[in-house]
Amino acid sequence: MTKPLIRILTGERTPVPPIWLMRQAGRYLPEYRAIRSKSDSFLDLCFNPKLAAEVTLQPIRRFGFDAAILFSDILVVPHALGQRVTFEEGNGPQLDAIGDPFALSRLRSEIDQAKLTPVYETIERVKRELPPAVALLGFCGAPWTVATYMIAGGGSLDQLPARRFAYQYQEAFAELIEILIAASASYLIRQFEAGVDAVQIFDTWAGVLPPDEFRKWCIEPCARIVAIVRQSFAGAKIIGFPRGAGTKLTQYIAAVPVDAVGLDWMIELGFAREQVQRLRPVQGNLDPLVLLVGGATLDRAIDAILEVFAAGPFIFNLGHGVMPETPLAHVERLIARVRGVASKN
Ligand code: CP3
Repeated sequence: MTKPLIRILTGERTPVPPIWLMRQAGRYLPEYRAIRSKSDSFLDLCFNPKLAAEVTLQPIRRFGFDAAILFSDILVVPHALGQRVTFEEGNGPQLDAIGDPFALSRLRSEIDQAKLTPVYETIERVKRELPPAVALLGFCGAPWTVATYMIAGGGSLDQLPARRFAYQYQEAFAELIEILIAASASYLIRQFEAGVDAVQIFDTWAGVLPPDEFRKWCIEPCARIVAIVRQSFAGAKIIGFPRGAGTKLTQYIAAVPVDAVGLDWMIELGFAREQVQRLRPVQGNLDPLVLLVGGATLDRAIDAILEVFAAGPFIFNLGHGVMPETPLAHVERLIARVRGVASKN
């Protein structure tokens, strides 16, 4: 039996859409907070296969989602390229900022796979315990999004440092993107070797790029990663998530042969159905804040999304990650409603 989520990625429609949530393993879960409080640092948790596998499985056990997403972070790639990465409580990620082209010389030109072996071991462990109908997703950050953190040294307002660097030092920026394309592709290939069923490429900050830059720093690098991964794994299933791309999604799907496109909550639903889902399976796109608020607002938003997308190949998800303050009961209500309403259609 093919896993429902994988059926969608091959272009089929299922009567009830499969559902998983970005950041489904995380701080809104008490069982996650219990494990997290015992680890010294967030990266220690990511690199502890036993605990990372446990955290990956927690939301599957509690809610019965149709996919598990590997517990790790997009910033393990800069870590494996030799950049210092730490996560500080309440402050988000902190990296040694790459302020000028000279700072690039401190990076390795190739990813140090030895640093990432615990991640692959996590995948192997999860595989052994996952129910057969549940898909295991791996992931990486897209080069542009990862570069925004590497250059700014952490999160940044409108990704200003990276956008400025890309205009001011275009050649050096292109070199960094090249390094990230190769590193991300080999990271994804190793995830497939370890046993993931599909991967998602998170381009969280794609939306700040004007059209020419969007083509250069989002579309082209993502297309290259897909091509390199499929040289090793011909049928590799890949979900692209260029958050905030808006109408530029049309160009994205024309040039990046992903199997499905993740939609954020900002997209106009009619546009998404006519211009995106007509060409490619879609995933999304409930506003994480609506899940946090719950009640009738949540019910209406779920129904509106199902009304628009459930007639075609569709994976229910949020338009971005679960917020830490989200009540567990709202997640339960979401899953019950998606499975209940959809099965009546
Ligand atoms: O459940 C899952 O989705 C799997 C695990 C996962 C994490 N991060 C765990 C995490 C995934 C897929 C990511 C992706 C990620 N990480 C992205 C792309 C998607 C997105 O959310 O935009 C980005 C931009 C990052 C970088 C990152 N990691 C930031 C900005 C932060 C700090 C913000 C925050 O929420 O704390 C992190 C930390 C992080 N990654 C946490 C988790 C569960 C929280 C840290 C903790 O528990 O202490």
